[in-house]
Amino acid sequence: MITITSSLPENPITYASIDFTETDEPRSTDFDDVYFSDCGGMDETEHVFINGCDLKKRLPASAGSLSGNGTGPREYLIGETGFGTGLNLLTLMRFYRLLEEEAETLPDITFLTVEKYPLSPDDMARAHRHFPQLEKESKELLQALFSRPLHTGLNRVVINSHFTLVLMIGDISDCYSRISVNQPVNSWFLDGFNPKSNSDMWSLQSMKLLVNLSTAGTNIATFTVCREVRDNLREAGFTLVKRRGFGRKREMLTGFLASE
Ligand SMILES: C[S@@+](CC[C@H](N)C(=O)[O-])C[C@H]1O[C@@H](n2cnc3c(N)ncnc32)[C@H](O)[C@@H]1O
Repeated sequence: MITITSSLPENPITYASIDFTETDEPRSTDFDDVYFSDCGGMDETEHVFINGCDLKKRLPASAGSLSGNGTGPREYLIGETGFGTGLNLLTLMRFYRLLEEEAETLPDITFLTVEKYPLSPDDMARAHRHFPQLEKESKELLQALFSRPLHTGLNRVVINSHFTLVLMIGDISDCYSRISVNQPVNSWFLDGFNPKSNSDMWSLQSMKLLVNLSTAGTNIATFTVCREVRDNLREAGFTLVKRRGFGRKREMLTGFLASE
């Protein structure tokens, strides 16, 4: 079982205040940026993060690698920077549900993520209404996540028999420097706001924290190919590969940690 512990204090939280645009899309007033793409947030998540991290291959392969030896399916740890509306998690849950129909075995998923400005239950539900295909997943997440008060530091939320969410509330530099995990992160979804307005999410210091929680073979995906992000990821130790981007973006970035 994946065990994650944190030495951060557990204090009451206040929810972020966010705006909704004319088309009812959530927008951060602090960062003057949108939470998801206006040309198909769920499709972007699938393209950038799920395909970018090769999960269609990696999930069945990681379960298959241990099947038959009596230990059961291995657990797969996905890390994220920036939980926001939870859209990446919902899209992943739907992807998993569809993949279950064709894959023999799949590992259970722990989704480790961080959020400095958590959305209120009402704002999160309102953001989810853009995605009727994710209604089932949204219901499950909202029910599990807000069944008791959230606090700063580590919030462990069992969503269903295959998904556990570990939501760290606080700044990335505190949260990811003050946790211990008994298994390295297998794949990272790097999803801060625009690096120009949200540089601490993409700093070298933050990228090094991700490396500390990773191992050889850990892979990453992100929507941005911004020069500073590439430099920081490389300096932290990732080998990078550009791929075709989503929508109006020509390119996106994937990468992995090579063995030393
Ligand atoms: C692009 S949004 C994430 C979108 C999200 N993955 C989704 O599915 O809706 C980036 C998120 O990072 C959070 N964030 C920004 N700076 C942060 C920091 N220093 N530490 C932790 N979270 C941060 C923002 O509040 C925001 O929710």
